[in-house]
Amino acid sequence: GAPVKADIAGLEDGQMLTLAWRGKPVWIIKRTPAMIESLTKVKAEVADPESSVQQQPEYAKNETRSIKPGIMVMVGSCTHLGCSPTFRPDYPAPEIAPNWQGGFYCPCHGSKFDLAGRVYKGVPAPINLLVPPYRFDGDTNIVIG
Ligand code: FES
Repeated sequence: GAPVKADIAGLEDGQMLTLAWRGKPVWIIKRTPAMIESLTKVKAEVADPESSVQQQPEYAKNETRSIKPGIMVMVGSCTHLGCSPTFRPDYPAPEIAPNWQGGFYCPCHGSKFDLAGRVYKGVPAPINLLVPPYRFDGDTNIVIG
């Protein structure tokens, strides 16, 4: 499939944009400094905090799973059976997890992911959400694929 270009100029802090790439949803989230900090706070609760399983390009194999910490790009399909998790940036939300700091919740079988798509321990999804190949084209465009 052809690469898809996303214009993120109008994306507000904390907001998420969804686009389609190869028949799958791709999410682009403009993470605030608080959202970036939340990744450290849930480190003990996620299964693969260092992204050691190879489900992201090399340039996204880091603490924030991104090229720029303020912009998260990932495939919005649950790594369990492919449902689309819901964006739950709200916190606290003890009904989701005791130390919930915002992230994604899959309504199908209850998998939970943080704001970098890192999967929580003890849920059906086996690995973190996928990061697609992408690059920045200037400051306000992202090319996926
Ligand atoms: Fe998401 Fe099963 S498809 S938890």
